[in-house]
Formats: sequence, C-alpha cells, structure tokens
Amino acid sequence: MTKITSICCIGAGYVGGPTMAVVAKQCPHIKVTIVDLNEARIAAWNDVDVNNIPVYEPGLSEVVAEARGRNLFFSTDVDRAIEEAEMVFISVNTPTKTYGAGKGMGADLKWIELCARQIARVSKTDKIIVEKSTLPVRTAEAVRDILHNTGNGVNFQVLSNPEFLAEGTAVDDLLNPDRVLIGGDANPEGQEAVQALVDVYANWIPRERILTTNVWSSELSKLVANAYLAQRISSINSISELCEKTEANVNEVARAIGTDSRIGPKFLKASVGFGGSCFQKDILNLVYISRSFGLQEVADYWEQVIIMNDHQKKRFALNIVKDLYNTVSGKKIAFLGWAFKKDTNDTRESAAIYVADELLNEQATIQVYDPKVEDKQIYADLDYLGTRSPDLNKKGVTVSEDPYAACADAHAIAVLTEWDEFIDYDWQRIYDGMLKPAKIFDGRNILDHKKLRAIGFKVSGIGM
Ligand code: NAD
Ligand code: UDX
Repeated sequence: MTKITSICCIGAGYVGGPTMAVVAKQCPHIKVTIVDLNEARIAAWNDVDVNNIPVYEPGLSEVVAEARGRNLFFSTDVDRAIEEAEMVFISVNTPTKTYGAGKGMGADLKWIELCARQIARVSKTDKIIVEKSTLPVRTAEAVRDILHNTGNGVNFQVLSNPEFLAEGTAVDDLLNPDRVLIGGDANPEGQEAVQALVDVYANWIPRERILTTNVWSSELSKLVANAYLAQRISSINSISELCEKTEANVNEVARAIGTDSRIGPKFLKASVGFGGSCFQKDILNLVYISRSFGLQEVADYWEQVIIMNDHQKKRFALNIVKDLYNTVSGKKIAFLGWAFKKDTNDTRESAAIYVADELLNEQATIQVYDPKVEDKQIYADLDYLGTRSPDLNKKGVTVSEDPYAACADAHAIAVLTEWDEFIDYDWQRIYDGMLKPAKIFDGRNILDHKKLRAIGFKVSGIGM
C-alpha cells in the first residue's frame, strides 16, 4: 500500500494555499510543498509577517504560522517539488475561455495541460496525480493521455478530488467538511491510489464523510454542486423581484419555504446577485458541455441561472438610477463593500463591479470602502471589463480607507457586500453627513431598516 510522505501542490491560490496549509497542519508527518510560477505570490506566502499572506481567510494565518517551515513550504521551484513528491495536486486556475471555440463558455485548460506536461517531463518515480482544480467532466482522460505519452516510462494514477470550500470560511470548511470526494479508476492500481488519498484525509476527517466514486462522477459532481447552489440563489432572487411588486417580503418567504426540511434554510438569501470565481464559470462550463453533446434543453435550463443573476445585478443598479429621480449624473454614490462576499479579499466576478459599471455609464461618481480590498484591485476589476478607459475609471471612482469619509456628501449608499462591521456603524453620523433625501440601497438586506428609517433614511432592500 502506498503511504504518502511528500506532497506537492501546483498553484498557490485561493484553493491551493488554504487546502494544503490545512493538510500540512493536520498531517505533520507529511511534507507539503506548494509551488507557483507567480514569484510575488510565493514571496507573500513566505512573508515573515504571516499577516501579509496573499489570501485573506479567517484563521488562515494561524494555520500557516503553525506549519510553515515545519512541514509546509512555498516555492517557485516547481520541477524539484514535483520530483520529490509521491502525490502531486494540480490546483491551478481554470477560467472561462476568452478566445477561440467555446469563448465565454468553456473552461480554459491550458494551465492544466502545462502542468501535466511538466509533471510528465520531470517525473523519475511513480506518482499519483490529483485533480484539485474544477474541471470539465472527462478532463482526466486528457491528463492521463499526456502523462502516458510524454513521460519517462514511470506510472501515473490520476484521481479527481474537487474542492468544496467556500471563501471566507475556507479553514472551517477544510477542517470540518460535509464530505470529501475522491474519484479514481476501478482497477486495483486505481483503487490503491484512491486509498492513499483517503488515508491522507482520514488523519482528521471521519471515514464515512470521505466519498469515493469513479473519476467521471467526481469531476461532474463538482460542476453540478456549484450549479445547484447557484440555482438556489437565482431562484430566490427571481422571487425577490416578484416580492417588490406584491408587498410580500422575500426574507419571510425564504423563512417560510426554508423551514420545510425538504428545501432547507441555506442559500436562500436574496442579494444583489452571486459573484465569485466559481459559480458563473462552472455553470457556463456545464452549459457548454451539455451543448457540445447536443443537449439543448439541458443547456438552456442551467443557462437561465446565469441570465437571472445578470438581471439581478442590472436591476439593482437601474433601481438606484430610477429612485434618484432618473439621473445619477454627477451624483456621488457610496459603495460599502467590493468583495464578492464577506470575510474575503477576493473580488472575482463580484456584483459590485457590474453595478459600478452600470452607474458609471450613467455618469455617477462612486466612492468605495471595503475593509479588505485594495484600491488597485478595484481599478483592475473595472479596467478588465473594458467598458471605458482606465483614466475614465479613475475619474469616476475613488477609494476610501474610511467608511464615514466614503459616505460624506453622498446622495446614496449602496451596500454590495455583507461585511458584519457595516451593521454597527454610527448611522446617525453617516446620515448627518449625507445630502438629503439620504438613500440606502441594501443589496444584502443586512442593515436594520427600521432603525435607519427612524433616523430619516429612505431605505430600499432586495425583495421588500
Ligand atoms: P487562483 O487563480 O487563485 O490560483 C491559481 C494559481 O495557479 C495562480 O497563483 C497561478 O499563478 C498558478 N498557476 C497557473 N499555472 C501554473 C503552472 N503551470 N505552474 C505553477 N503555477 C501555476 O485560483 P483558485 O481560486 O485557487 O482556483 C484554482 C482551481 O480551484 C480552479 O479550478 C477553481 O475553479 C477551483 N476552485 C476554486 C474555489 C474558490 O473558492 N476559489 C473553490 C473550489 C474550487
Ligand atoms: C462556492 C461554493 O459555495 C463552494 O462550495 C465552491 O467550492 C466554490 O464556490 P464561494 O464562491 O467561495 O463558494 O462562496 P459562496 O458562499 O458559495 O458564495 C457565492 C456567492 O453567492 C457570493 O457572492 C455570495 O454573496 C452569494 N450568495 C450566497 C447569495 O447571494 N445568497 C446566498 O444565500 C448565498
């Protein structure tokens, strides 16, 4: 039986970093080396001040402080780490393609292929390769093909082990997951590889929560899990619009349906729209795969989740314009939050980006405050859309390090992220500093609307 003592993880991002830091913490007998081509990122992971690691996650710096230098290492020497390891995780980015066939829909697998070729080239001993990235179903076939055709005659087993952590709660999710999923081949070599990975997780996860399947079920389950989760948000967001027309309250509806144990209470928070690097990308991927098999109805069904989400973001922005007497030109709108959810510094696909883009089209000026997002990230997000020049984005958007300054002299405040600190602000002070009528558009339904109305604010929530 293969006993793992050395692991390499390619990709030191939001998944590779936290996941492997927790493996190292829980398995002091395993040497874990996380490698990346991005030198700045690796330098940040190695920063003497552990608070400067590049991923903000509650509890993560403590985990890194405990394991780093003991059995957790960060390096740019990818070849060496691969060769030293018995098990290599691939945790590189798999974004939506931006060119060629499948542009805007399919996953761009060029980084996966590069990893497979590099592993094949440098490996002199047998290895277990683990797909940690989220991949289109049947990617393992291509990975296997590359490994077997370009390698040095050593044996590779390819496993699928998708990651289900959510950002903002990554450390808790990794320490105490609902389940771990491992897909492998049914033959004895495949099953031996599966067992080797099961044994790693079994150091801290009860065996009954470690599910094993064939490779294809595992790859597909990751896309399906994200599609189901996102579908719940788009479903409740669609109902939020109906609530706004009928005086029903979406929070009350969510509670009423969520107490049915068959429906359940989670992922029923109406919002300005879901963001993050996963949901949209993975559903588009599912849609693209379905279309490529000629399954038009299946593709259309899941695509509607994205269409609804785009509608929700746009609707939020246009409601602001409508409510500010049909013009925001030259008006200051304060944004509280830019991250795609609380407790992360990640902004990928954040609803805030799209709402800002719509309001800039209407010539609003925006001042942003987010407790964890840096100004250069905010400008990079807007510039990436390509709607207008970087100069115009800089002219239209300013970033503040103080929420009270961000809200001063504003016509309206838009809450884009559900950061806890927003709830306890001195709202009377904010009201006093704003232009009147002072409006709040609570895109997360987190503020105490009754209290705000008592102060004098005009408040609009989602679905109420
Ligand atoms: P990321 O962009 O934060 O990190 C990926 C890293 O891989 C980057 O630092 C990049 O420099 C590095 N990289 C790319 N090619 C490389 C190569 N050939 N050699 C060495 N390093 C290379 O991405 P992420 O958010 O960590 O996501 C990684 C994968 O995990 C994706 O497939 C994603 O869908 C999946 N996933 C993400 C989440 C999440 O919450 N972010 C959750 C579950 C699954
Ligand atoms: C998601 C999946 O939850 C996770 O299992 C997978 O591994 C990666 O993708 P993540 O994108 O990090 O995780 O965060 P998640 O908590 O799922 O939130 C995604 C988006 O949905 C955020 O913008 C969040 O604010 C929004 N959301 C979530 C809602 O609008 N309403 C909800 O009820 C829940």
